[in-house]
Amino acid sequence: MRNKATAIAPSNIAFIKYWGVKDEILRLPKNGSISMNLSNLLTTTTVEFNPDFYQDTVTIDTVIDIVSGNRVIKHLDRIRSLAKIKYKAKVVTVNNFPTSTGLSSSASGFAALTLAGARAAGLDLSEKELSILARQGSGSACRSIPDGFVEWLDGDTSETSYAVSLHPKSYWDIVDIVAVVSKTKKEISSTDGHKLATTSPFFEKRLELNKEKMILMKQYIKDKNFSAFGELAESEALELHAIYLTSHPSLIYLLPASLRLLHLAKKWRQEGLEVYFTLNTGQDVHILCQKKDEKEVVQKLLKLKEVQNIITNYPSDGAKLSNKHVF
Ligand code: DP6
Repeated sequence: MRNKATAIAPSNIAFIKYWGVKDEILRLPKNGSISMNLSNLLTTTTVEFNPDFYQDTVTIDTVIDIVSGNRVIKHLDRIRSLAKIKYKAKVVTVNNFPTSTGLSSSASGFAALTLAGARAAGLDLSEKELSILARQGSGSACRSIPDGFVEWLDGDTSETSYAVSLHPKSYWDIVDIVAVVSKTKKEISSTDGHKLATTSPFFEKRLELNKEKMILMKQYIKDKNFSAFGELAESEALELHAIYLTSHPSLIYLLPASLRLLHLAKKWRQEGLEVYFTLNTGQDVHILCQKKDEKEVVQKLLKLKEVQNIITNYPSDGAKLSNKHVF
C-alpha cells in the first residue's frame, strides 16, 4: 500500500451557484451549478495513513483547528471505509490564501484531501468517484476535481451528483480577479447558511429559474459571449445575496467596501471597460474580465483604498497529485 500522498487542488468560482441542500448528510444540492477552477487559490495537502499512528492529526496552515479538524476526520472515515482500512492518519494542509473568509478554502481543501487521501489509502478512483467523494466533504469541492470549466450535475442520488468538465482551461482566457476587502472570518459558515436557504420567501422562485439559467450559462461559455456571460453571472450573484438578505435569520456578508466595488464595476462598464462581478458567501468581490483588459483592471483595483490585496486567477486544471510532500 502506498500510504503517503500529496495533492494540489484549486478553489473554484461558481457562475451559477450552489445554495441549499436537499440532503444534508450526502450534501446533495437543491440545484445544479457551473464554475471555473481558479489558478491562484490553491490548497496542497499531504495525507499519510500509518499503523503506528494512534490518532488522526490535522494541521491546517500550521494550526491544529478542532472544528475544521473534525470535518476532515469525518472525511478520512469515508476514505477509510471505502478502502477498508483502520489506520489513523496525519494530514497537513497548506493554503496559499486566507481560510474561511469566503475564498472557498473548503472547495480546494476537500478536493485536495480527497485525492491525496484516496491515493494514500491505496484506492484507485475515477474522476467521477473522486468528485462524489469530495462532494460529501464540501459540496463545492466536487467541482474542483475535474479540469477547467465545470458543471455539477443536478442528481437526486449520491451516484448521480458529481461534477464534469465542460471545457479545458485553455478554452477561454477570462480572468477572475479577487478583490480582498477584509480578512475577517465569516460569522456564519456556508454549511450553516445552506440550511437557511429555504427560509427565504424567494428561494422557491430561485430554484424555478435555475434550469433555464444553467442552459443559458453553458451556452454563453460555449459561445465565449463575454457580455451575456457576465450579465448572467452578475445577476446570479445578486440573486444569491438576495436570498441571504431575506433568510431568517438574515445573512449580511457584504461590507461597505464590497458595495463600493459593485458600484465601481458598473461604472467602469459604463465607461467602456467590460468588467462584471460575482460574489460568494463572504465580503470579497470577484471581478471578471477578459485577458486583454486584465492590466487595466488590476491597476484600477490597486488604486482603491477599499482593496487590501488582489488575487488574479486564470482558468485552471482540477485536483492533481504531486510528489512534493508537505511533510
Ligand atoms: C456561495 O461548498 O462551501 O460558494 O457544502 O457546506 O461545504 P458546504 O458549502 P460550500 O458552499 C458554497 C457556496 C457558494 C456557491 C458555490 O460555490 O456554488
